[in-house]
Amino acid sequence: MTPKPPGRAADGPLLSVRGVDVGYRTGRRTRLTAVHDVSFDLYPGQSMALVGESGCGKTTLGLGLLRLLPRTGTVSAGQVLFRRKRGDEVDVRTLAEEDLRRFRWNEAAMVFQGAMNAFNPVLRVEEHFLDTFRAHEHTRRPRAELLEESAELLEMVRLDPARVLPSHPHELSGGMRQRALIALALALRPQLLILDEPTTALDVLTQRSVVEQLTELRERLSFSMVFITHDLGLAAELADRVGTMYAGRLIETGTTRDLFHRARHPYTSALIGSVPPVVGDLHVPEPLPGGPPGIDELPPGCPFAPRCPRVTEECTATRPELRVLHPRDEGLSHAAACLHADGAELSTRGGHP
Ligand SMILES: Nc1ncnc2c1ncn2[C@@H]1O[C@H](COP(=O)(O)OP(=O)(O)OP(=O)(O)O)[C@@H](O)[C@H]1O
Ligand SMILES: [Mg+2]
Repeated sequence: MTPKPPGRAADGPLLSVRGVDVGYRTGRRTRLTAVHDVSFDLYPGQSMALVGESGCGKTTLGLGLLRLLPRTGTVSAGQVLFRRKRGDEVDVRTLAEEDLRRFRWNEAAMVFQGAMNAFNPVLRVEEHFLDTFRAHEHTRRPRAELLEESAELLEMVRLDPARVLPSHPHELSGGMRQRALIALALALRPQLLILDEPTTALDVLTQRSVVEQLTELRERLSFSMVFITHDLGLAAELADRVGTMYAGRLIETGTTRDLFHRARHPYTSALIGSVPPVVGDLHVPEPLPGGPPGIDELPPGCPFAPRCPRVTEECTATRPELRVLHPRDEGLSHAAACLHADGAELSTRGGHP
């Protein structure tokens, strides 16, 4: 039997998110539901981009999946099922503290939004690597061996270990720091890497090199990836599939091709349409009128209805569920939460790619 290429799972999803709500305590008696009823499956080797306007809940969802929320935040409903390296499935929500510590880094790791400041400024880069190995490995390996492995990781992201390992974070450029953080996140060979806006703070050329290295690393180590981005070009390039979020909900998912060429939710189509084209005729991008609703002040029907060019009376009364339009295996179905999703395809004029 020929082995399955990465991304073709032999036995089910790596991550299965089922009906997840994430909320923040905002006062003694008040809570904000920032993410509501999100479900998706991610198969081994797949990469999924989460896109959507600022404040729609992308970071909250990413943090919730690894239970990295601030103290006021909790995953208040649903399941986050994860298939560990040894083959058993766990619900991340129910992991005990010690198990959770091992789960993070060994099974899944996160590169945070604004990661430039994620390094401790008083520690050299090598100490970050040593601490990470020592805190999460069962066996205590000699320092020289750990440093050698750290050097290999840095070489994978094209950094010179002799220069970077002894440096303090402030001695590195932003791009170098970002790459070092990605290398550090991969130190224990996690199966899942969550990256929150991995390239936002970088100049265009540095962004390119980070993207190229992520692509190479994925080919080499075949981890799955969820990455959160405002940059649809990046999503088109790095993702097998895309999930659009709006007001805390996942409102469309599908392959990258589905979303960029056959968007079924008017919000996805507007998001793509607002990106100026790289080739072809220049036109003025069409901005979306209005802003997203406050997550806890949603209108009774579709949350997008007040801004939607396709709105009908029904939309203001009925909240649409995420509904499968084209079923496919391995979590690649095209689904949209729009009452009119079966109608004519939407224009993504001027959009990437
Ligand atoms: N610690 C917190 N306490 C209370 N509310 C929060 C907290 N963090 C985020 N929120 C709220 O949760 C919602 C989702 O925020 P989140 O940061 O997840 O959005 P995002 O999609 O990542 O936005 P951006 O693209 O700007 O990073 C917002 O309404 C935000 O104000
Ligand atoms: Mg965010």
